[in-house]
Amino acid sequence: MENSLSPASITNNLETHFVGQRVIYYPSLASTMEVAKQEAQQGAAEGTVIIADEQTAGKGRIKRVWLSPKGNIALSVILYPSIVYLPSLIMLASLAVVHSIEAVTGLKSQLKWPNDVLINGKKVCGVLIESNVRGDTVDYAIIGIGVNVNLRLYDFPEIQPTATSLSEELRRDVSPLNVIQCLLIEIERLYLVLAAGGSIYEEWQDSLVTLGRRVHVKSGEMVYEGVAESVSRDGSLLLRHSDGSLSKIVAGDVTLRD
Ligand code: BTN
Repeated sequence: MENSLSPASITNNLETHFVGQRVIYYPSLASTMEVAKQEAQQGAAEGTVIIADEQTAGKGRIKRVWLSPKGNIALSVILYPSIVYLPSLIMLASLAVVHSIEAVTGLKSQLKWPNDVLINGKKVCGVLIESNVRGDTVDYAIIGIGVNVNLRLYDFPEIQPTATSLSEELRRDVSPLNVIQCLLIEIERLYLVLAAGGSIYEEWQDSLVTLGRRVHVKSGEMVYEGVAESVSRDGSLLLRHSDGSLSKIVAGDVTLRD
């Protein structure tokens, strides 16, 4: 299987208007987020994609490391959304991943609040949103997506209990290119749904395995326990405690308890 990418292989016949019409490709890069940030600061066209065959310092949420060896997907997309759509970008990116995985492989995936995509309870993809906001103006927003496409878990015993990859689930290699092209089409489609005044919140909420479950949430220095009751339109998690009170959690790390 050809695992090396090229800008032309991605953009050729790509059925989008702007997402992925400009691709900046690196065989190896510290992190696509850093290059995307520099490009956005220099006014790169909306929809510009930074992609790397491998990352040597891939960034996860909460200063975690994201493993990105060759054969997987590590990309960042530059957008200039209105501030009202900013909370929806995490929903948009996660749903685009769920749709693309199913379209290319037939595998069903679910979401764990706030940004994990799971297959059979194990993480197959992480999404990272970084933005620069001044007042009520978004200078830029960057969607970073890492998908474990052909990750061989026995090479990474430290994440084996919690992670999976498309190839592990299917017991065969998967073309990263097919998933990337589908992903870019879905990102643009959902972005245009938002821009046209549509909503993706309902589908995002319905895809969350977290809801209705007893969870433990670490948010900064705070730790919460309770039942994940719902999510609000701004993407926050609403957690019901045993004393009946409700907490609204904007960001955090969830462990499912039951
Ligand atoms: C997470 O689950 O913690 C988020 C992981 C995000 C990883 C992607 S890979 C492409 C982009 N570049 C990075 O350095 N990180 C994101």
